[in-house]
Amino acid sequence: MNDVVLTGDRPTGPLHLGHYFGSLANRVRLQDAYPMYVLVADYQVITDRDVPGEIQRNITDLLLDYLAVGIDPAKVTIFQHSAVPELNQLLLPFLSLVSVAELRRNPTVKDEIAHSSQQAVSGLMFTYPVHQAADILFCKGTLVPVGKDQLPHLEVTRMVARRFNERYGEVFPLPEAMMGEQSLLKGLDGGKMSKSRGNAIALSATEDETAALIRRARTDSERLITFEEERRPEVANLLTLAGLCLGRPPRDIAEEIGDGGAAALKGLVTEAVNEFLRPIRKRRREHAEADVRRILTEGNGVARERAIATLDEVRAAMGF
Ligand code: TRP
Repeated sequence: MNDVVLTGDRPTGPLHLGHYFGSLANRVRLQDAYPMYVLVADYQVITDRDVPGEIQRNITDLLLDYLAVGIDPAKVTIFQHSAVPELNQLLLPFLSLVSVAELRRNPTVKDEIAHSSQQAVSGLMFTYPVHQAADILFCKGTLVPVGKDQLPHLEVTRMVARRFNERYGEVFPLPEAMMGEQSLLKGLDGGKMSKSRGNAIALSATEDETAALIRRARTDSERLITFEEERRPEVANLLTLAGLCLGRPPRDIAEEIGDGGAAALKGLVTEAVNEFLRPIRKRRREHAEADVRRILTEGNGVARERAIATLDEVRAAMGF
């Protein structure tokens, strides 16, 4: 079978180093091996908040992050939900294939509801996983690089595809999750890395911003730097970050620092991160907002053609 890769992000703010080591680096590798779609999931932004916010700004920044890390629009189709009506229309028949009980059971949805600051939980919160099935199936995606939290959604997609095929004839492949290596990287305070917690280094951070964030990172008072994930998680995390940036084992870096203490550790990490981000910053500067518009217009056009063909097939299979 000819595999097609589909993956996507909600445009809610800048991508950070956790995104890079968790998924972006993998995409850059995959783009040379497979036909690939990258979705700017703009309609999904309004699942856990009432309004889309600075959506145009966030979409532009997301595209600039993609280009900066080396996602190549000549190889990858980059597109948006809101520009592909036929993708969105697939939601209708797909919703008919899933029960309300199944929608309620989704553990990722439950978790998002628990952490949501919204007054009321919208219908979209329960149905967006089915919309995500449309994201994947409109282009007959077969490989979906995702993190663990997305596995329940991929199960929904497989269920939708299986049931559609059973009821109406073979139209959709059953996609597989492609679990990357779990990014071991934590935030600079030792908690989960997240832009909303202020503990993440954005790919668009300047040298000074990067240095300031690392200066404020939590450590401990032992002078001898050692890599002990259980006993010294914050120090271990900084060593992991430097290790990822330098392509070296964190343990070696700890030995090199020896009894230099937190100051030496932070100095080394700052240099490693800034060195690592240098070519990414350079590529970002090479792209203007006009490039972003053009890339999205082209990608949206390609995605739309694909969606029109799939919707035609779906209508024909269902007898409309
Ligand atoms: N839900 C994903 C996230 O929050 C984004 C997403 C939307 C996605 N549609 C997708 C991921 C389809 C993979 C496939 O990160």
